[in-house]
Amino acid sequence: MALCKIFPFAFILVSCSCYLISGQRFDYPTANLSTTWINSVSAPHSIDYTDGSRIRAILLRGTFGPRYACGFYCNGNCESYLFAIFIVQTNSASQITSPAIGFPQVVWSANRNNPVKINSTLQLTAEGDLVLRDADGTLAWSTNTAGKSVAGLSLTDEGNLALFDSKNATVWQSFDHPTDALVPGQKLVSGMKLTASVSRTNWTAGGLFALSAIDNGLVAFVESNPPQKYFEASVGGSNTSGGSNYVKYLNGSLTLFTHSADTTELILISITPASSAQYMKLESNGHLKVYEWTSRGWREVDDLLTGFRGECNYPTVCGRYGICTMGQCSCPTSSSSRTYFRPIDVRRPNLGCSEVTKLTCQNRKKHSLLEVEDVDYFAFKADISDTDLNTCKRACLEKCSCKAAFFRSGLNSSRTRGDCYLPTEIFSIMNNEKDKTRYDSVAFINVQV
Ligand SMILES: *[C@@H]1O[C@H](CO)[C@@H](O)[C@H](O)[C@H]1NC(C)=O
Ligand SMILES: *[C@@H]1O[C@H](CO)[C@@H](O)[C@H](O)[C@H]1NC(C)=O
Ligand SMILES: *[C@@H]1O[C@H](CO)[C@@H](O)[C@H](O)[C@H]1NC(C)=O
Ligand SMILES: *[C@@H]1O[C@H](CO)[C@@H](O)[C@H](O)[C@H]1NC(C)=O
Ligand SMILES: *[C@@H]1O[C@H](CO)[C@@H](O)[C@H](O)[C@H]1NC(C)=O
Ligand SMILES: *[C@@H]1O[C@H](CO)[C@@H](O)[C@H](O)[C@H]1NC(C)=O
Ligand SMILES: *[C@@H]1O[C@H](CO)[C@@H](O)[C@H](O)[C@H]1NC(C)=O
Repeated sequence: MALCKIFPFAFILVSCSCYLISGQRFDYPTANLSTTWINSVSAPHSIDYTDGSRIRAILLRGTFGPRYACGFYCNGNCESYLFAIFIVQTNSASQITSPAIGFPQVVWSANRNNPVKINSTLQLTAEGDLVLRDADGTLAWSTNTAGKSVAGLSLTDEGNLALFDSKNATVWQSFDHPTDALVPGQKLVSGMKLTASVSRTNWTAGGLFALSAIDNGLVAFVESNPPQKYFEASVGGSNTSGGSNYVKYLNGSLTLFTHSADTTELILISITPASSAQYMKLESNGHLKVYEWTSRGWREVDDLLTGFRGECNYPTVCGRYGICTMGQCSCPTSSSSRTYFRPIDVRRPNLGCSEVTKLTCQNRKKHSLLEVEDVDYFAFKADISDTDLNTCKRACLEKCSCKAAFFRSGLNSSRTRGDCYLPTEIFSIMNNEKDKTRYDSVAFINVQV
């Protein structure tokens, strides 16, 4: 009896002092050349979570609390896996814990366009290449660093996976190849971008949305041709720097670092200061959300690209041609008895509207403009500035690729002069809330009669 009472207490004392005295670490943040990991059922550091996800950690840095790890990740039926960096919960012996609330949060992945199966392998070769092969041996991804004097692989405290050489210089790092997420300390150098996944369940890149760092800030856009911008946070007159300006995720902000003489750090977007682990993700619906770990699990703390126009400013909120009014979707209607647009699914108006007759360039004599009052467009820019309404409408009818003419004019100015926008592709349209925008706006949608 006495032994039973004493033993657990003694065990804690012994293990604590061992850690302090010997500096022994329980985590496994680095790997040497010529190491292979197999995505097998029996691999060590495997955890199944109650949300259906499963990981097999390869590297993990730190103890106690939310920590970065990298390894194989799957969710759902687990037929396909990513090699990814994720945040997991750990105990004081660096064991991964909390399978019921500490769900792995993927902040980077190597092969989202090319998922692998069970029994796939990751190999850090003797030549210094990090190679992911599927179970049948096909190449899924590699860092292409063979022969570049790589000495080892390390996952840093900030969540950056790096191949380093014998002088400890970085040869390759995951921070240079962002996917759809950013972690504190990470930067987007001008020209780099986040690309959203197709959907929550389909990790493939080439969802519609991207967030790009530019010389003087950040822009979010739909990757149409040409791209249509739906958000911008930038500073005027900043120094063009040949691409070396960058936006960094700091505690409390996304900040632009420039090389201009006067101001070198400018806050672009404020973020809720981190009281625990945090990251942000460009979601498949175009939102840029910030998530934070709390004692009850991961919580959304910010939705960074939502401005005064709210949900309606997101390009796909009501699908193509759908009109968003205070979050509700409808299709453009005509004052005549004719119907030009029908909801794709009457019960799910947010899927958008389809043209009753497709617009074709062969039959341009049958093009007509459907007037829709008091609507605006997220990507409005003046293709023709300070013009009159008829010039704007004519310009659209003369250009087969023109899908609509949007005309913005001063409040109550009877549309005498204004700016004209002629998009070649239409996503969601929004109701113009004049009391907020302080201008009039009308659309003429190009339709086939
Ligand atoms: C890497 O190699 C060094 C030197 O041989 C060794 O001390 C270290 O334990 C190895 N690290 C791992 C993670 O195997
Ligand atoms: C994975 O490999 C193991 C050992 O080679 C084998 O027993 C198992 O059937 C393989 N699993 C799949 C799904 O191929
Ligand atoms: C190698 O660099 C990393 C950061 O880049 C640093 O944390 C680490 O201490 C360095 N290791 C050595 C042996 O200098
Ligand atoms: C994921 O999306 C891509 C691109 O749209 C598509 O080609 C692929 O079939 C989708 N994958 C699944 C599993 O649905
Ligand atoms: C831009 O940066 C260069 C180099 O740092 C500096 O010489 C120049 O004065 C800056 N120009 C402005 C407008 O800030
Ligand atoms: C972030 O900043 C706040 C204060 O603004 C501070 O309380 C918090 O500890 C910081 N978080 C991290 C992770 O450093
Ligand atoms: C515009 O006209 C509306 C209705 O005629 C009126 O209520 C509003 O006050 C006018 N706004 C301005 C700025 O003149």
